[in-house]
Amino acid sequence: MPQVKVIAKIRRRRIDIYNEFTTLLLELYQLKSVLALLDWDTQVNMPEKGAQRRGETVAYLAGLLHNKFISREFGKLLKSVKKLSQEGKLDEKQSAVAREVSREFAREKKLPEKHVRELAQLTSEAHQVWVRARRENKFRFFLPYLERIIDLKRREAECVGYRQSPYDALLDTYEPGAKAAEIDKIFTDLKEFLVPFLKKIQSDPLREASQIGLKKPKIRILRGNFPIDKQQELGRMVAEALGFDFTAGRIDQAVHPFATNFHPEDVRITTRFDTRDLFYSLMSTIHEVGHALYEQGLPVENFGTPLAESISLGIHESQSRVWENQVGRSLPFWKYFYPTLRRKFPQPFGKIKLEDFHRALNSVRPSLIRTEADEVTYNLHIILRFELEKALIEGEITPAELPKLWKKKMKDYLGIVPKTDREGVLQDIHWSAGLFGYFPTYTLGNLYSAQFYAAAKLSNPGLESQFSRGKFAKFRNWLKLNIHIHGKFYSADQLCKKITGKPLSAKYFTDYLASKYSQIYKLSD
Ligand code: CO
Repeated sequence: MPQVKVIAKIRRRRIDIYNEFTTLLLELYQLKSVLALLDWDTQVNMPEKGAQRRGETVAYLAGLLHNKFISREFGKLLKSVKKLSQEGKLDEKQSAVAREVSREFAREKKLPEKHVRELAQLTSEAHQVWVRARRENKFRFFLPYLERIIDLKRREAECVGYRQSPYDALLDTYEPGAKAAEIDKIFTDLKEFLVPFLKKIQSDPLREASQIGLKKPKIRILRGNFPIDKQQELGRMVAEALGFDFTAGRIDQAVHPFATNFHPEDVRITTRFDTRDLFYSLMSTIHEVGHALYEQGLPVENFGTPLAESISLGIHESQSRVWENQVGRSLPFWKYFYPTLRRKFPQPFGKIKLEDFHRALNSVRPSLIRTEADEVTYNLHIILRFELEKALIEGEITPAELPKLWKKKMKDYLGIVPKTDREGVLQDIHWSAGLFGYFPTYTLGNLYSAQFYAAAKLSNPGLESQFSRGKFAKFRNWLKLNIHIHGKFYSADQLCKKITGKPLSAKYFTDYLASKYSQIYKLSD
């Protein structure tokens, strides 16, 4: 055979293998979309009696997906594709697909099916027990379940493998590549800023003094009576202004606000309403819109591969936080939206000046409940949970010690102590669901958001004055071009260095807080 023909044949074979691989991969993603749709439907539309059957359907499809993924057929194809990649025969995007799929495949293969089933069974029981323990305020009901969950998660870490800490093996599910030791270092820097900064906000003598018209920012001036339909109108208007594409997404009501997607052109978010507190829904809508813009910004042509998937939970949360906090709680944003808010709700906003409104919206007060926390105190709630769960997984503390340690850390970091476990160690759903390693991604998101935002401002002078004119496209496009369109091509760490020139650090976030809250609280240096 002439050499040209042989080369052509080899090239064709190479393309065949890769195509066969992505065809099978696409099937997996189709199943993932169906599962996401079922989950959305469960949370948005589920009639009470349907829940049990739905659970069975989801378990069946999840099993199907798992078996297809770790099948011999897929494993063989993946091996060939990895070989092509190692031999330099794939382009860089194809290699990134091979790398990401291999990573997930290796993890899934290492977990014995027995373990997966045992954990699913245990967490489903533990959820019910946690609900009851929280309602009746009795940690001891939940304790034996928590002990078993932690045993299983430690076993999971052993199966998956790790270098330094078993916690790394769990963290990796949510924040690929992140290491407990690095997070520990960054969180310590953050904590060393936050604890004294919070004390300063609470005790600065200027705050108490009757300065010229200066009052303490009080969130309660923002309470009122806000009919749900008018809140809905406002939420949709803001979502649209920020760039949420209603032809590629929906907003519905659910008990817990969340964002999910079946495809970059079908992204769903949810919200919930409180008729007394408008911002309960509005700020969470802005948050979820941030998540949705990430999903809608993923490259649709790569659907069915990791190149149309988000990098990590931390990077995802950076997208929601940047819109919610850096944009949605800023003065420029409200310069634009405040007249509309006053028109829609003359009570109470007709009487409140813009500056007082903005200060009230950003008031800082330590709270017992994480989800009610403000920008300054929020991350202390996360650091507390990260420290405790890391120590649990590393075997340094026992679950029985949790209530006591929780109270001590609350006192040290936030200066308040929960009287009950309901307001303390029992408040979050995560541990009952076996989600160890999830909490730190919230704070990583806050840190990434500040670091990215600083870079965006640097390359777009006048960004904030655009916000005050209701123009958000430039910022949205910056996020899209720098973050969204890459899918999983870069790791979180690589992306951060590429955009900001530096690895993740707490500095950008602490600078942002120091500057913003020094103004709001008129702090002296
Ligand atoms: Co979020």
